[in-house]
Amino acid sequence: MAYAALRSIGAYVPKNILSNDDLAKLVDTSDEWITKRTGIKERHIADKDETTSDLGVKAASLALQRSKIKKEDIDMLICATITPDYFCMPSTATVISKKLGLKNVTAFDISAACTGFIYILSIAKAFIESGMKKNILIVGTEKLSAITDYTDRGTCILFGDGSGAAVISATENKNEAIIDVNTGADGTYADLLMTPNGGTGSPHDALEGESAKCFMQMKGNETFKVAVRTLTKDVVEILKDNDIDSSKIDHFVPHQANLRIIKAVGDALGMTKEQVVITVAKYGNTSGASIPMAINDIYESGELKAGELLLLDAFGGGLTWGSALVPFSPLA
Ligand code: ACO
Repeated sequence: MAYAALRSIGAYVPKNILSNDDLAKLVDTSDEWITKRTGIKERHIADKDETTSDLGVKAASLALQRSKIKKEDIDMLICATITPDYFCMPSTATVISKKLGLKNVTAFDISAACTGFIYILSIAKAFIESGMKKNILIVGTEKLSAITDYTDRGTCILFGDGSGAAVISATENKNEAIIDVNTGADGTYADLLMTPNGGTGSPHDALEGESAKCFMQMKGNETFKVAVRTLTKDVVEILKDNDIDSSKIDHFVPHQANLRIIKAVGDALGMTKEQVVITVAKYGNTSGASIPMAINDIYESGELKAGELLLLDAFGGGLTWGSALVPFSPLA
């Protein structure tokens, strides 16, 4: 049987920085409030002409180069994004595949908001274990600034742009293999976090002016409570199902939405400070890109070593959620 292994990681952040002080010039807020309630200090914002696929290509190129797998051998590309280059088609995955010069790939996008990276990880694992594909490039990339309402202080302080990517490939060595990925969704919470305008639910021609824009809207406080509950339950279940004690986790990488959520979940699970990866201060919430960007941070700082065990955990719009137990298994 083929198993699926995480071979490499890569990420990219655009150069422009939007600080809390910059935001305080746009809306009624302050560095003190944002830092205390979210832990975020700054976020990166893409240029006007920089697209979601442009961001994704940079992370994907790095992941490809680090994977030691030839570009010609990549047989699938899956992109997780809620800010695609184009509204309906082509998919951002196909645009990225063209920019990377990938010729023989199956390519498609999925939409699972901040859980997107865990969803594409689970799809990659399933395709490889079934024997249908061998080397899959997965990309979480977001230009959230394009759907952020910079007059709404409840959301604009949270989100940033960025991308992360990984190569997942087939192995016969079970010790290298992704142990488990769990995903779920509950549409009864759909209204907590949405971009209500622009789709067939509320077509553009029925709307006018500002209300026609596809901005994110969020019931922040309710989302916060569901997030803590869901993230904690998710991790307890995946550890129990696989008979793994939390002390065996080398790096717990939760979705980077809010430092208070990360701390509440880490504490509930009894994780030590050293186990929990936190990058929210410098990137804000980058949705489907947040987890691979955080893994890339510990890879580039030298903290992530071959063979170490990652525990990933995310929740997002939908609501969706997911967790994964993943050893880091680069090719020698
Ligand atoms: N600056 C100053 N005051 C503010 C701001 C701001 N930026 N935003 C809200 N406030 C005010 C509110 O108006 C309210 O004032 P009031 O008491 O006079 O009515 C007060 O602060 C408290 O508001 P809450 O919304 O209760 O504040 P909370 O502590 O919940 O923090 C936040 C808000 C940061 C949005 C938090 O709820 C949060 O992080 N929620 C979860 C976000 C998230 O994780 N989203 C999901 C994933 S995203 C995805 O899938 C794409």
